[in-house]
Amino acid sequence: MRMLIEGGTVVTATETLRDTDVLIDGEKVVALGVGLGAGIEVDRRISAAGKLVMPGGIDAHTHMELPFGGTFASDDFGTGTAAAAWGGTTTIIDFAVQDYGEGLRKGLDRWHEKAAGKAHIDYGFHMIMREVTDQSLKEMDELVDEGVTSFKLFMAYPGVFMVDDASIFRAMSRTSDNGGLIMMHAENGGAIDVLVQRYLAEGNVDPYYHGLSRPPSMEGEATHRAIALAELAGVAVYIVHLASRDALEAVREARDRGGATFAETCPQYLFLSLDDLAKPGFEGAKYVCSPPLRPADHQDDLWKGLQMDDLQLVATDHCPFHFKDQKTLGQGDFSKIPNGVPGVEDRYTVLWHGGVNSGRIDPNRFVELVATAPAKLFGLYPRKGTIAPGSDADIVVFDPNLEWVISADNHHMNVDYNCYEGMRVRGKPVVVTQRGHILVEGDTFHARPGQGRFLERSRFAER
Ligand code: URP
Ligand code: ZN
Ligand code: ZN
Repeated sequence: MRMLIEGGTVVTATETLRDTDVLIDGEKVVALGVGLGAGIEVDRRISAAGKLVMPGGIDAHTHMELPFGGTFASDDFGTGTAAAAWGGTTTIIDFAVQDYGEGLRKGLDRWHEKAAGKAHIDYGFHMIMREVTDQSLKEMDELVDEGVTSFKLFMAYPGVFMVDDASIFRAMSRTSDNGGLIMMHAENGGAIDVLVQRYLAEGNVDPYYHGLSRPPSMEGEATHRAIALAELAGVAVYIVHLASRDALEAVREARDRGGATFAETCPQYLFLSLDDLAKPGFEGAKYVCSPPLRPADHQDDLWKGLQMDDLQLVATDHCPFHFKDQKTLGQGDFSKIPNGVPGVEDRYTVLWHGGVNSGRIDPNRFVELVATAPAKLFGLYPRKGTIAPGSDADIVVFDPNLEWVISADNHHMNVDYNCYEGMRVRGKPVVVTQRGHILVEGDTFHARPGQGRFLERSRFAER
């Protein structure tokens, strides 16, 4: 099957090519050029006149069916990847979870089972390590050999996910041998737990206190500690879901002294704030995630971080729970609200709207943040994350002039609310392809469950 995407403006992280055709043969992009389509035979022509042609998004941080707080994230690999495709994301990297008392292998096998036959788009895995033992350290090496090359550790959630500094240092030291990467949830779980109990004892049980019990200073402290441990081990570290200027400061300082420190932020920290947690009634529960939403004045710092490359990419931390029967588990006790927000479908458009339409970033930087940087950092480049001869034909034809309103009424995520409800945005993916297959065309969904493939990623050290 040969397909031509004709006459669009091709935007990559480094180039903007006007009136350019993209020729796809089978699963790959084979050529780009002006007037390429004249006189050649193809099976399908898609007009991209007046539109942008950009790489499919890579969301490096999702949690399909994550077990949390006595329930499971409401999107599975079927619904979550369909929603991702609708929103212009053609690859996710999801977090497989090691349960207590089991090896990494068992947790990884479980995630392979969850995804196989269901995923509509390509996917890779990071591995969440709950226990750092001689056995799990050995298994890290095996996983790296199998293309699962990054491992998330938690400095928060004592008794659930948290590991101590010695474990972190041991796991980090292992990555200096096996070429993997440690991803850190950086919040000081011990101090936060004391604050949580204090607020609850005082009768302060509403979602707003979730925010107050996890102050920015404790995110900054943990980020600083994670970086110091990585520097001691002589390895790189990647800070996930960075939410505050305090944490950003620690990352910036490390990068300024030449450290191999990397970090992502998420749309919720760029567009939402502590005020959302304070919404009346139990409404604030919709916005409970960790780290929590910050006072609105942190947002400008995060945007600056994206502009200056102190933050390298935007991922969603997509972890949806229904408001009605899941977030309500924490009614009367904010600490029991399942942590996480939906967003895998929204990222491409809200970042375009809030970033490019507002003049904060240019289209090339947008592509870098949503596709190219995640591909490079997580071992998928140049197969993914760009439009070039030889790369997978994962492409978004984006209409930059289409105005629409984000709502739970028109989204495809399996969750009963949308964090950006009512946001009027300009720009929308109108055609989405993966490896030369059309997943989405206008209002029609063509992707099939099981069409997505597992991606073996190369080592961080080989990037
Ligand atoms: O609140 C969040 N972020 N939920 C998902 C789990 C995690 O820590 O990433
Ligand atoms: Zn986390
Ligand atoms: Zn997460």
